[in-house]
Amino acid sequence: MSTTVKRFLLEPGGCLRGRIRVPGDKSISHRSIMLGSIAEGCTEVSGFLEGEDALATLRAFRDMGVVIDGPERGRVTVHGVGLHGLKAPLDVLNLGNSGTSMRLMSGLLAAQSFDVTMCGDSSLSKRPMRRVTEPLAQMGALIDTSADGTPPLKIHGGRALVGIEYTMPVASAQLKSALLLAGLYAAGTTSITEPALTRDHTERMLRGFGYAVTTDGSTASLKGGGTLKGCAIDVPADISSAAFFLVAASIAEGSDLLLEHVGVNPSRTGVIDILRMMGADIVLLNERDVGGEPVADIRVRSAPLKGVEIPGEAVPRAIDEFPVLFVAAACAEGQTVLTGAAELRVKESDRIQAMADGLIALGVDAQPTEDGMVIRGGALGGGTVESHDDHRIAMAFAVAALRADSAITVRDCANVNTSFPGFVALARECGLRISDGG
Ligand code: S3P
Repeated sequence: MSTTVKRFLLEPGGCLRGRIRVPGDKSISHRSIMLGSIAEGCTEVSGFLEGEDALATLRAFRDMGVVIDGPERGRVTVHGVGLHGLKAPLDVLNLGNSGTSMRLMSGLLAAQSFDVTMCGDSSLSKRPMRRVTEPLAQMGALIDTSADGTPPLKIHGGRALVGIEYTMPVASAQLKSALLLAGLYAAGTTSITEPALTRDHTERMLRGFGYAVTTDGSTASLKGGGTLKGCAIDVPADISSAAFFLVAASIAEGSDLLLEHVGVNPSRTGVIDILRMMGADIVLLNERDVGGEPVADIRVRSAPLKGVEIPGEAVPRAIDEFPVLFVAAACAEGQTVLTGAAELRVKESDRIQAMADGLIALGVDAQPTEDGMVIRGGALGGGTVESHDDHRIAMAFAVAALRADSAITVRDCANVNTSFPGFVALARECGLRISDGG
């Protein structure tokens, strides 16, 4: 785990101008390593996110015998070993802070011939895993969790899996993906139905590797026993990282910012839809298809925001963006209401409580609820806020400083490196008054 940045110090005010490219998409970066590893032949990845989470996945597959060159300026070559070529790691796989690594790999590793144990840091060790292990058990997997259903996970190898039809109780792309990855090895068909649209990068990327996946309404299905063929993957910039700048430029008067080559997959663009409902001035330019994923340049200019009731449909499509959307709400005129987002309580931190506590410390009228938040926009003060070691909480409060009346200190920001290495330098470059407080 990188320990280079522990505190962010922010002077109030400023605006954002220029054109920037934020780092690569975290979800797509994880999947490029996983699918590249079990494909036949080489997979050439560009734009790979060199953040701690995706690097944890990369190291885990190296530990299972996959030769992976790079990353070197976002370039990675994965020498695929085929569906049955992974080897038992010598040790426990430590996945750090990364829930995506652990959940997706649960499905993939449940079908291997060897035993493997996965662990993580103190945050990951508290996160619910039964949502994955229970349906995998229905497929024939044997996975031990702690008594609370949390990591470490011990996966027993040598199990024959069978396909299932499964309706997910939560809208989770991690769960859907874990089951589809297990389904690659299962006898027959695996069909997963989701209660709301969640990110579909796994389905799209499997198709890019030449593997047939059908999507019928809210159900994704595949048959086990095929093969993946190595391919080229151009990872777009992460809309979840771009989101900090979408909000920052919206709330800071005088801003005009262009975000280049951002992934705008409709299962991820809830943040744009919600900000536009609030009155944001966001324009998608040069929309194109890059390897099966929609990509665009995004121009955002400051605009007065108003409070909204966030539609339930948008919640899973903006699930990682709520910390910074709460900041937008704090700067908007009137009341913003979020419901149906209980999942936020089991992310890298309890994001409802962490954001409510920090906003209240800055003088905002924020009321946490069981499954969301009610925020009344108004003036923002300065002060010290806790990030709870959560990358997205840290970056959200950095953005809040643009509208604060005095300085903000954000504590424990080292985990920003899990998803957004270089955040401080890039944010400074386009106008945020941020420094790394050591
Ligand atoms: C992810 C899915 C989301 C998201 C996470 C990445 C993925 O989690 O919060 O950051 O890559 O599939 P859930 O699917 O559990 O909501």
